[in-house]
Amino acid sequence: MKNIKNISVIGTGVIGTGWILRFLACNKKVTAFDKNKKQIEYLKKEIVRTKPVVQKLYKRKINLKNLNITNNLDEAVKDSDLIQENIPERLELKKLVIKNISKFAPKQSIIASSSSGLLPSKLQSECINPQRFIIAHPFNPVYILPLVEIVKGNKTSNIYFKRANTFYKNIKMKTLLVEKELPGFLSDRLQEALWREGLHIINDGYGTTKDLDDAITYGPGMRWALMGTFLTFHLAGGELGMKHMLDQFGPALKFPWTKLKSPKLSKELKQKIIKGTAIQSKKLSINKLSNIRDNFLIDLIELKKKYKL
Ligand SMILES: NC(=O)c1ccc[n+]([C@@H]2O[C@H](COP(=O)([O-])OP(=O)(O)OC[C@H]3O[C@@H](n4cnc5c(N)ncnc54)[C@H](O)[C@@H]3O)[C@@H](O)[C@H]2O)c1
Repeated sequence: MKNIKNISVIGTGVIGTGWILRFLACNKKVTAFDKNKKQIEYLKKEIVRTKPVVQKLYKRKINLKNLNITNNLDEAVKDSDLIQENIPERLELKKLVIKNISKFAPKQSIIASSSSGLLPSKLQSECINPQRFIIAHPFNPVYILPLVEIVKGNKTSNIYFKRANTFYKNIKMKTLLVEKELPGFLSDRLQEALWREGLHIINDGYGTTKDLDDAITYGPGMRWALMGTFLTFHLAGGELGMKHMLDQFGPALKFPWTKLKSPKLSKELKQKIIKGTAIQSKKLSINKLSNIRDNFLIDLIELKKKYKL
C-alpha cells in the first residue's frame, strides 16, 4: 500500500480548514482549492489562531512549506494520494465536483467526502473508479476531535475502505466503520434526534435554548464524554446492569416522552443491547465501572469550572 503523503483539500470552509490543520500537523503535504478565493484569508487566520492548541496537541509546529494553494481543481488533485472534499452539503453539487475530481486525480487515489449525512452510493454514482470513494465524516473542530465516520457506498471496495481506515487512524483519529450506509450515518442521527426534540420543546414553549443546553451540559453530556448512552444506562440498572434497566424503563418507551416513535422493544433488540453493553464493559463489574465514571465526573466538574462560559 502506497503511503498517503500528498493530500488535496477541496473547499476550505470550516471543515476543509480543520482538515488542513490536522493534515499539516501530521506532517502531510496539502494542496488546497476553494472556488471562492477569499476563503484563503479565513484559512490563514485559522492557522494563526490555532497555533497554540495545535502545538499543544501534536507537539510540533505546522510547516507552512507543506501547504500549497491553487486556483483550479485539476491542478489541486493531479498528484494526490487522497482527496478530501468539503464543499456545501448539496447532493447535485457534490456529485458534480466528485465526478470532476475523479477525472483529474490519479486512478488509485482515495476520494473522501466530509458529507454529514448524504448517502455514499449516491455521491459516488458518477465517479470514475467509484470503488475508491468513501465518506470520511469528521466533527468540528476537525484538528481536535478524533471521531471520523468512514462509510461505504455500494460500489466502494474493501481494499479502499481498509486503506482509509488505516490512514485516518495514522493521523490520530478514532475511526468508526459504517459498512451499511444510512442517511445521517450514526453520530449525526443521534445529534439530529436531540436537535429535533429540542426544536419541538422550544416551539411548544416548555423551555429556552439555555434550559436545553444546561439540561445536557450539566447532566447527561458530562457522562457522555466518557460513556455513551448505552454504557451509561447499563450502570443505571444497578447490579444487574442493562437487563434490569430494560425491565424497569422498557415500558417507558410507550410514554409520550419524545415526539420520535420508538421501535418495539423485541426480544432480539433487548438481546442486542444487553450483549452490546456487556462487551463494552470489558468484563468490569458495575461497581468498578461506577468508580471510573465517578472519578471522571469529578475531574470534569473541575474542568468545567475552569472553562466556565
Ligand atoms: N460545519 C460542521 O460542523 C460540519 C461537520 C462535519 C461535516 N460537515 C460537512 O462538511 C462539508 C463542508 O461544510 P462546512 O461547514 O465546512 O461548509 P462551509 O460553508 O464553511 O464551507 C464550504 C466551502 O466550499 C466552498 N465551495 C463551494 N462550492 C465549491 C466548489 N464547487 N469547489 C470548491 N469549493 C467550493 C465554499 O466557498 C466554502 O468555502 C459539508 O458537506 C458539511 O455537511 C460539516
